[in-house]
Amino acid sequence: MQRVGAGTLQAADVDRRVQLAGWVHRVRDHGGVLFFDLRDRSGIVQVVVSPQDPAYATAQALHSEWVIAVEGTVRRRQSGAVNPKLPTGEIEIERATIDVLAQADVPPLLPSAQESPDEALRLRYRVLDLRRQEMQENLALRHRLLQATRRYLDEAGFYELETPMLTRSTPEGARDFLVPSRLQPGAFYALPQSPQLFKQLLMVAGFERYFQVVRCFRDEDLRADRQPEFTQIDIEMSFVEQEEVLHLAEGLMRAIAGEAGWQVELPLPRLTYHEAMARFGSDKPDLRIACEIQDLLAFKEVFTVPFLVGAVEAGGVLRGLRAPGAASLSRKQWDELGRQIERFGFKSVPYLALQGEELKGSLAKGIDAARWPSLREELGLQDGDAALVLAGDDEKVSLALGQLRLTLADMFGWRSGEHRLLWVTDFPLMEWSEEEGRAVSRHHPFTHPSPADLERLESEPLAVRAQAYDLVLDGVEVAGGSIRIHERELQERVFSLLGLSEEEAQGKFGFLLDAFRFGAPPHGGVAFGFDRLCMLLAGASSIRDVIAFPKTAKGTDLLTGAPAEVSSHQLEELHLDLRPVDEKA
Ligand code: AMO
Repeated sequence: MQRVGAGTLQAADVDRRVQLAGWVHRVRDHGGVLFFDLRDRSGIVQVVVSPQDPAYATAQALHSEWVIAVEGTVRRRQSGAVNPKLPTGEIEIERATIDVLAQADVPPLLPSAQESPDEALRLRYRVLDLRRQEMQENLALRHRLLQATRRYLDEAGFYELETPMLTRSTPEGARDFLVPSRLQPGAFYALPQSPQLFKQLLMVAGFERYFQVVRCFRDEDLRADRQPEFTQIDIEMSFVEQEEVLHLAEGLMRAIAGEAGWQVELPLPRLTYHEAMARFGSDKPDLRIACEIQDLLAFKEVFTVPFLVGAVEAGGVLRGLRAPGAASLSRKQWDELGRQIERFGFKSVPYLALQGEELKGSLAKGIDAARWPSLREELGLQDGDAALVLAGDDEKVSLALGQLRLTLADMFGWRSGEHRLLWVTDFPLMEWSEEEGRAVSRHHPFTHPSPADLERLESEPLAVRAQAYDLVLDGVEVAGGSIRIHERELQERVFSLLGLSEEEAQGKFGFLLDAFRFGAPPHGGVAFGFDRLCMLLAGASSIRDVIAFPKTAKGTDLLTGAPAEVSSHQLEELHLDLRPVDEKA
């Protein structure tokens, strides 16, 4: 007899003798007859043991999370006992024999608990947490999405090739995780932030179409959608232009989403970076929120308050956001919203609120009453709505309104229930880094400038667009990529704009530049953040809920206790001395 999945049994199996194995999910003693649920990967089935059954004594001793093997007969439940919520709710197992395979201590968290336990406890006792149905389903989905990815890319002619995990530090972007070398005192490997340079080398080597499901490591501050190690679906293609990469990536996205039961319509909508910033105040706009930022410059005369007038006269932009229902916000809530945009240089949120026909809010007295109706019409302001108005620097106004749009969407539940995907294209090639006092790559230094902007590379470097694109799902960047520079001369021009001397460039990226000397095909690619995709498609609120063994926001693995101290012997072998930690640092 072959073991069957507990969750697969149905009315059609009635009278079948079956073998099952799994965990005791829950035990119910109804004074005499004993019921327990047996759980395995496929689900749960109820087992009934009567006092006259030979297995009764064994059944009485069972506790949650004991591991058992059961052989029994499937029978139909009595009509009053049918559980429509359970896939196996019409049947149960009777006349069972029970073998205890392993006992279990009282678990600190119960896989059968209804509410989700405290996260620190979940991460500490991860095996118990992973037994919960939600986590079993999330990781099963992750598996299916990965198989769909491999099928799609294999059929599209891609080779799955591996690149090294111990590699050279090329800090650009996030911080590297370093690994000291024992054999070469004082030298370090770095764990890859992405296989970017290696996949480009594979193109120069002639493989044409590469992909890899690959772990990447970045030592950066963590958030709900960031982990220090995460998985990319990394893709690179030769002899392609941007359009072909987008087409391929869209097809992959559709295949993955289809596996999760969501039919994506292609082609996906696109916004340029500038459109996304102006309309949504973000380079990863959440299109589930209908509200858009509005350009109000044509209505500047409506405003009489000096700080808005002054900002506009100084050449600033004037933009607003209609917030349906926000007239009900309290003073305190407006203050709180103000604090959210302090980092963009604003002290508060200037706003108008319409209550009945009465105009209220911090801007109410700074409005030209005669001109007000035209602005009201432009904003589409209804009774109960508020309008938020900011003036000043283009980017800061956009980012601040974009932030307020997201916060208000949380407060008022503005997001529609359906997933929304789009491409954001035409990113700036470089941006100014205050910290470094120079232009830095927005993506990485191998990103190809838009051909139309090549002429102004030196004269207006910050206005040059890149052949770079991001795929955005529900306000989260789920993939990013670019066409790469494969021409040496162009690469040197870009390095020099980034302030990299020839020697520095050679020192950092010499192996790639050398390879380019021997015939590099035009190429480009994209990488999907696989954990983020899984998170969104599983409807999970944290990336940790789709990773079997994730780390906390502080980068700790609560299960193993990593990172942890190592012995002095290990340090010695690695030629490392430790300094006492500076408490203040
Ligand atoms: P990028 O840095 O945009 O591009 O990364 C690609 C995708 O990886 C995901 N991602 C992360 N997911 C979880 N935790 C993190 N810390 C994290 N950081 C990034 C995001 C992102 O869109 N080599 C380029 C790709 C290319 O140009 O082909 C790269 O790594 O979803």
